Amino acid sequence: MAGQKKPWGGRFSEPTDRKVEDFTSSLHFDKRLYPYDIEGSIAHCRMLAAQEIISSGEAEKIISGLQDILQSIEKGEFSFSSDLEDIHMAIEKSLIDRVGDVGGKLHTARSRNDQISLDMRLYLRDEVKNILDLLAGLQTSLVDVAKREIDTILPGYTHLQKAQPVLLSHYLLAWWEMLDRDASRLRGCRDRLNVMPLGSAALAGTGFPIDREYVAELLDFPGISRNSMDSVSDRDFVAEFIFDAGLMMMHMSRFCEDLVIWSGGEFGFVNISDAFTTGSSIMPQKKNPDVAELIRGKTGRVYGDLIAILTIMKGIPMTYDRDLQEDKEPLFDAVDTVKACLAVLSDMTGNLKFNRGRMLEAAAGGFSTATDVADYLVMKGIPFREAHGIVGHLVGYCIEKQKDMQSLDIEEIRLFWKDADDNIYACMSVNGSINARNIAGGTAGEAVLRRIKEIESMAL
Ligand code: ARG
Repeated sequence: MAGQKKPWGGRFSEPTDRKVEDFTSSLHFDKRLYPYDIEGSIAHCRMLAAQEIISSGEAEKIISGLQDILQSIEKGEFSFSSDLEDIHMAIEKSLIDRVGDVGGKLHTARSRNDQISLDMRLYLRDEVKNILDLLAGLQTSLVDVAKREIDTILPGYTHLQKAQPVLLSHYLLAWWEMLDRDASRLRGCRDRLNVMPLGSAALAGTGFPIDREYVAELLDFPGISRNSMDSVSDRDFVAEFIFDAGLMMMHMSRFCEDLVIWSGGEFGFVNISDAFTTGSSIMPQKKNPDVAELIRGKTGRVYGDLIAILTIMKGIPMTYDRDLQEDKEPLFDAVDTVKACLAVLSDMTGNLKFNRGRMLEAAAGGFSTATDVADYLVMKGIPFREAHGIVGHLVGYCIEKQKDMQSLDIEEIRLFWKDADDNIYACMSVNGSINARNIAGGTAGEAVLRRIKEIESMAL
């Protein structure tokens, strides 16, 4: 349309510069909003007819034109002309081409400012649903692997130093809990964005006798926005969603980081299946955890999207300013990235093979049951601080003699605690340590099974 009159061109005497057209156009990225733009327009049109702002004959023509456009886009026959400004203009122009001047009545009592707010909300509402489904898929994978590995022992770490033995199933369910909070944040985000903004028009509302509640009902919104100025300038829901996506990415990234470390030869705890790894172009022996690394790397992208939207928003004067068009690429990127990562991570998780022997061996070493010995002394009446000191000296002695605690004989133990008898050995075992933690939220097998039951009954 370079050199041609724009739909808004009445007050202009010169055509838009070609470079400016390219610079201002958002069509190449906002065209993905087409089903929502059309759905919103159909609802708006029905309302205009119900309120007798346009006739029902006119509404029928407009609606069938919009349905035509939808089909032609879906069949790949629609040409998105690069000189149209955005998806709203592309659809409106094509409508007028198809149904004639009556198509120009669709935009009565509406502005692109409230239209884009509606489109973004409809789009994100759908995508939140898709992401919740993908999240549930990853949670299910985690529970499945936890059940398969219910008794598998893992050395638990703090500071990446061996700390205390835990069950692998308990570890896997830790990620489940994180993802559960992610799901609840997403549902909260959806509640807040699920508000119908149409009728706010450019910024001040409209003088036409529209029925906003009816439009909300047609589009399945539980309510309408309450301030036209807020409605057209609000992108809180975009920032909130990207933050939620950022946390989800951070959770996935941390899990992937463990997988990267554990799949390395030095740890050798896990084997990521060939289908989810790649080779090296130079080193024939390599099998690299690229999928896990890419998820870790893509987390940075989504954080970038969050910083972008927050920075775009920070200096915008009330109400709509064109800066707001820059909200889309970060949002779309965050949606696409989080969806791709959730899908691939679910599949990769389901295919993990754990090296039980290697993990047990690692869990038993490094004095990982020292706290259990201290707890045993406490049960024998010794104050915890003193017990901590006794066991600390015992560990120091073992390191000096290059022995583990279980191979000390009772006389050696008595050097540090004179009342020791053979019962002390039981609390030094990895299984004893794990089974002792049979509290809600603890790592004992029974506690983990109870949590799995709870999770499964919630899913029903
Ligand atoms: N493409 C625009 C956006 O994404 C639509 C709204 C345009 N409104 C305007 N007054 N120029 O924000």
